[in-house]
Amino acid sequence: MLNYAGAFVGVNIGSDIYDLPSAAYVVAILKAHQIGHVRLYNANAHMLEALSNTGIEVIVGVPNEQLLRIGRSPSVAAAWINNNVISYIPSTNITAIAVGSQVLTTIPKIAPVLIPAMNYLHNALVAANLNFRVKISAPQSMDIIPRPFPPSTAAFNSSWNSTIYQLLQFLRNTNSSYMLNAYPYYGYTKGDGIFPIEYALFRSLPSVKQIVDPNTLFHYNSMFDAMVDATYYSIAAFNFDNIPVIVTETGWPSFGGADEPDATAENAESYNTNLIRRVLNDSGPPSQPKIAINTYIYELLNEDKRDGPTSVKNWGVFYSNGSTVYPLSFSGSGQSTGNSLAVFCVAKDGADTDKLQAGLNWACGQGQANCTAIQAGRPCFLPNNLKSHASYAYNDYYQKMHNAGGTCDFDGTAMVTAEDPTQISFQFVPTFFQVMDHVYMQEVPTHQAALDGVHLRQKQLHLWVPLEQAQTF
Ligand SMILES: *[C@@H]1O[C@H](CO)[C@@H](O)[C@H](O)[C@H]1NC(C)=O
Ligand SMILES: *[C@@H]1O[C@H](CO)[C@@H](O)[C@H](O)[C@H]1NC(C)=O
Ligand SMILES: *[C@@H]1O[C@H](CO)[C@@H](O)[C@H](O)[C@H]1NC(C)=O
Ligand SMILES: *[C@@H]1O[C@H](CO)[C@@H](O)[C@H](O)[C@H]1NC(C)=O
Ligand SMILES: *[C@@H]1O[C@H](CO)[C@@H](O)[C@H](O)[C@H]1NC(C)=O
Ligand SMILES: *[C@@H]1O[C@H](CO)[C@@H](O)[C@H](O)[C@H]1NC(C)=O
Ligand SMILES: *[C@@H]1O[C@H](CO)[C@@H](O)[C@H](O)[C@H]1NC(C)=O
Repeated sequence: MLNYAGAFVGVNIGSDIYDLPSAAYVVAILKAHQIGHVRLYNANAHMLEALSNTGIEVIVGVPNEQLLRIGRSPSVAAAWINNNVISYIPSTNITAIAVGSQVLTTIPKIAPVLIPAMNYLHNALVAANLNFRVKISAPQSMDIIPRPFPPSTAAFNSSWNSTIYQLLQFLRNTNSSYMLNAYPYYGYTKGDGIFPIEYALFRSLPSVKQIVDPNTLFHYNSMFDAMVDATYYSIAAFNFDNIPVIVTETGWPSFGGADEPDATAENAESYNTNLIRRVLNDSGPPSQPKIAINTYIYELLNEDKRDGPTSVKNWGVFYSNGSTVYPLSFSGSGQSTGNSLAVFCVAKDGADTDKLQAGLNWACGQGQANCTAIQAGRPCFLPNNLKSHASYAYNDYYQKMHNAGGTCDFDGTAMVTAEDPTQISFQFVPTFFQVMDHVYMQEVPTHQAALDGVHLRQKQLHLWVPLEQAQTF
């Protein structure tokens, strides 16, 4: 059900959270919101198990702390692949490994082991014949491109020449993508008023403020597009082509401290809504119009344990309890599910029969679930078995009580799911999810990732300013 054609928008799932929800609950949120692609920062076993048989595509991560050992030892790398990838494939659809997080800018000291680590991990995939299925890359910050504007003259910081060269060579040889973390929020807030906020939020710019690259005369409707293009031009400056850029992180914080006035729920909703619409239109940035910009929103859940300014704890689309911080439609259909999170509570497969009976009795008794419909002769009596009846009663209890603290546990016999038990068991009309899929599939045309060669113009230094100001120069 989650096989989409064309460009996609996924989410990052960080776990620096005091009251971390269960992996099953996180997966229920993903399904309820039609999210078909996720990136994890590690290879957490509970998450990878919960993601199995969901069709959701997964990028697993090698944390920076593990990089040194992997980059020094092929056998450590092989063990990592065994434990964290081979054990889960194919039921969990792991399609890529993100090696480290912004290694060059975050911990430059370990940069020398980055490429060896990628090679060792790749060799282990080759040995398991998984290299066509699982791709390896390494997310980088925009900070390794010191002057991203205008895009046509952007170049990687030359201090990193040799590492970047080897990185690009690796990506081209293995048919992998360049992973870019692109944050217009920081480009805007650190730009000290050079750029209008409309440009950062994908809103249309007044004609006097159009942002134009003076070399290519491309108009940039958004800073997001300009950052992706700056990356394409930086790659082209090394004479590499055919390396697609995917955005592994982007987003906007919904709340910040007194000195972070742009971190508001309104701006976050606007940024992410417009981002989804922009990505799902399947076009690339101006220099690469045919390469769609697959993108992962940072991030699914607010991470309240993270250190730093208030905004750092508020990048999530959801609070850790699953309530939405602001409404967002991941399918770009305009039909957001708002605050009504479609999560259901059902009896687990293979649950102990006595415990299940006790749970059913409790739900219909003290729990005050309305069990009328599962009595003999009533519409939900069939199928007449303990598991179906318990699922009905558990869910009725959970829907009424979970806002008041009621849990989906029933002595370990219950679990949350995105599938409505009343719809599955009783074969009613198409479910909400099927209807949404249909809308989604119709809206997303098949995308064809043909690659255009990049022809670099003579490099010139130009000030990158809104046209309004450019004219006065
Ligand atoms: C996993 O994802 C790939 C890439 O989209 C897709 O081609 C494949 O069918 C998926 N496999 C499963 C088992 O869902
Ligand atoms: C390039 O990277 C080096 C090493 O991290 C840093 O010292 C230098 O300031 C960077 N250059 C620019 C222009 O950002
Ligand atoms: C890095 O590469 C650029 C472009 O090829 C070149 O101009 C520069 O001298 C190189 N810098 C170093 C430190 O090798
Ligand atoms: C890369 O793609 C080319 C062309 O599609 C293909 O021939 C080659 O086998 C691929 N190599 C890898 C390692 O995926
Ligand atoms: C898709 O988005 C790009 C960038 O904003 C824009 O230039 C293009 O016109 C859009 N295409 C469609 C079909 O809406
Ligand atoms: C219980 O559910 C039945 C239908 O299944 C409904 O007719 C009845 O009104 C409900 N009772 C209460 C108290 O909500
Ligand atoms: C979830 O957490 C948020 C923030 O703490 C709170 O405002 C909201 O009421 C909570 N929702 C539920 C259903 O408990």
